[in-house]
Amino acid sequence: MARFIVEGSCNKLSGKLTVQGSKNGALPLLSASVLVAGESVFTGCPKLTDIRAAENILTYLGCRVNENASAICVDSTDAYRYAIPDGLMREMRSSIVFLGALLGRFGRAELTAPGGCEIGLRPIDLHLEAMRALGAVIDETGGRLVCSCPNGLKGARISLSFPSVGATENILLAACTANGDTLVINAAREPEVAELAEYLNSCGAKIFGAGESVIRIEGVKRLNASCHTVWQDRIAAVTYMSAAAVTGGDLWLDMKRTELLLPVVEPFEKMGCTVDLRPDAVRFKGADRLDKFGMVRTLPFPGFPTDSQADFAVMASVARGTSTIVENIFENRFKYVCELRRMGAQIRTENRIAIIEGVSRLSGAEVTSPDLRGGSALVVAALCSDSVTVVDDIYHIDRGYENFEKQLENLGVKIKREE
Ligand code: UD1
Repeated sequence: MARFIVEGSCNKLSGKLTVQGSKNGALPLLSASVLVAGESVFTGCPKLTDIRAAENILTYLGCRVNENASAICVDSTDAYRYAIPDGLMREMRSSIVFLGALLGRFGRAELTAPGGCEIGLRPIDLHLEAMRALGAVIDETGGRLVCSCPNGLKGARISLSFPSVGATENILLAACTANGDTLVINAAREPEVAELAEYLNSCGAKIFGAGESVIRIEGVKRLNASCHTVWQDRIAAVTYMSAAAVTGGDLWLDMKRTELLLPVVEPFEKMGCTVDLRPDAVRFKGADRLDKFGMVRTLPFPGFPTDSQADFAVMASVARGTSTIVENIFENRFKYVCELRRMGAQIRTENRIAIIEGVSRLSGAEVTSPDLRGGSALVVAALCSDSVTVVDDIYHIDRGYENFEKQLENLGVKIKREE
């Protein structure tokens, strides 16, 4: 297993960084390419193992996938398979987002249930309920989902009991070529939903209100592939900002749509950091000593993002005072806490609450990445430790951060990958 060796007592991180394309934005776009006729071209796709897993699924389905330095091109003209084998499904848990696209394209889909994962149970009941409302008949025996639409997909009114990001994306994918109109109530407002709608609309879909709680979709007969530049990764941006914060550093992030970072600005400011959101960049400055941020509660967008809570726990670990995190989205998202404790962090957890008493410095240790965001946060913690930290199982980090160690090295971090 690969691991990072990170030198602690890091100098102030400083420099310029272009924020990578968003993993969570790119994955539903790649699945949309199955639905649209012709060749979809996505520029700015990050190079990540999860993206590779999506490409493997597309290739298996019969799409022609070409990747060059600047773009991933997917031609779905010859796609002929609608069943994804278990091995490919397991490579990436969010492969469930192929469900809506396959139903839209073939009127059929066969997948295995993605199952529980590092951060929680991650059921798919909302996805299945929504597909059924659109006319799918789903047999769930033996962990396999066999889905068909005997009478085609038909528009429907769907009220989500929770604004699930993946379920909303699947509804968009399945409904945009369904017969008639669909109304999604309590839709996820995450930017990744708005981005998917932007791409589908550029292909001829009629989706209105994506990014808001109520989305209306007028079914169209056919979609034609188009080009799209993947939006930049708001979650990765926060990780680099937190790395600057714990070292008192100073960072320029090249990034568009910086307003997507608004949900984290206030807690950063409470810690004494400066976050200057400009139209095409973020100027970020850490503080000599961070202050507590008080309390954050993770919530659906535009609330505080669950994907950034581990970064904030690391910052709180070396801040003055006590901070609290309430995790409302996933039930098992504090796995990184016991690793942070090995580094000297003072954190108590009870169910979905973590109470963090800041210490002046962490100590180097050997720790293990429990999941993607927990893993990257441990690397950030290593920067403000007093000696060398070894972070094991970094395959989790490779799922979501493009050239993580190179990006950090460019900002002054001493970090080495060991296979
Ligand atoms: C997406 C993101 C993930 C992020 C999350 C919340 C991708 C690839 N992943 O995950 O990084 O942390 O949004 O912003 O985009 N739920 C159900 N039943 C369902 C679906 C979801 O109970 O059918 C629950 C989940 O278990 C979880 C909550 O709803 O507790 C949120 O899940 P959801 O919004 O669906 O997250 P994902 O789309 O899986």
